[in-house]
Amino acid sequence: MLKDSTIWLMAVLIFTIFSGSSLIYAENITEEELGLRKENLYDEQSTIPVRGEPIQKEPGESTPIERAFENSPPLIPHDITGMLPLAQTENICLDCHMPDEAVSQGATPIPESHFVDLGTGEDLKGKLDGDRFNCMQCHVIQTAVTPAVANLFKGDFRDEKGKYRSNLLDILNEGVETD
Ligand code: HEC
Ligand code: HEC
Repeated sequence: MLKDSTIWLMAVLIFTIFSGSSLIYAENITEEELGLRKENLYDEQSTIPVRGEPIQKEPGESTPIERAFENSPPLIPHDITGMLPLAQTENICLDCHMPDEAVSQGATPIPESHFVDLGTGEDLKGKLDGDRFNCMQCHVIQTAVTPAVANLFKGDFRDEKGKYRSNLLDILNEGVETD
């Protein structure tokens, strides 16, 4: 037998749950209002995705962009029209960015980390690791956009040089203890 007080307590509890939940729903925003845009979420007519203006400068005419954080993949600061698609056997990026070519092209050389199999640690002796041929997987072109939400992230750099050059392979094992 349930005591009177227990029944009361249960009634109050059930009432609170139901009245509470309807209150929450009443204050909730509708599905159409979800999202950052001001228009109906389901309206695809007036809201066009922000595509931005890709950088137009030719290689050699642009200036490298400060890295987002230490050892982040640098943004491509130049036009890449006509350079894609990239294939393992045909990759125009290598023409200017392979260490042997880069200096004469005024381009940043592909770093040592791209010539090592990071899975095994094997030095590939100047041969680009197979995982690296698709440069666009990690490096993207700089595009001028006004984001709906400003990005307040500010990368920290232990060294001023890190703002424009990477040294991943030198510091990869930092803090790792080996026998
Ligand atoms: C004709 C030569 C040339 C080609 C081809 C080329 N680049 Fe470049 N790249 C440059 C030069 C030169 C720079 C230095 C900035 C500048 O002068 O535009 C540069 C800068 C960069 C940077 C910035 C490096 C830094 O230190 O911040 C990245 C990343 C990059 N290129 C990636 C690519 C990728 C990916 C491709 C292929 C889709 C490519 N580049 C094709 C010449 C080239
Ligand atoms: C899997 C991701 C990935 C791919 C694919 C990749 N990169 Fe990178 N790249 C990085 C990262 C991360 C860094 C910075 C850390 C480092 O040095 O490894 C970097 C750094 C660089 C730098 C700057 C070197 C310096 O000394 O500051 C150049 C130039 C570059 N990559 C060119 C290329 C080119 C060209 C390709 C295609 C052939 C390519 N990368 C493919 C991730 C990638």
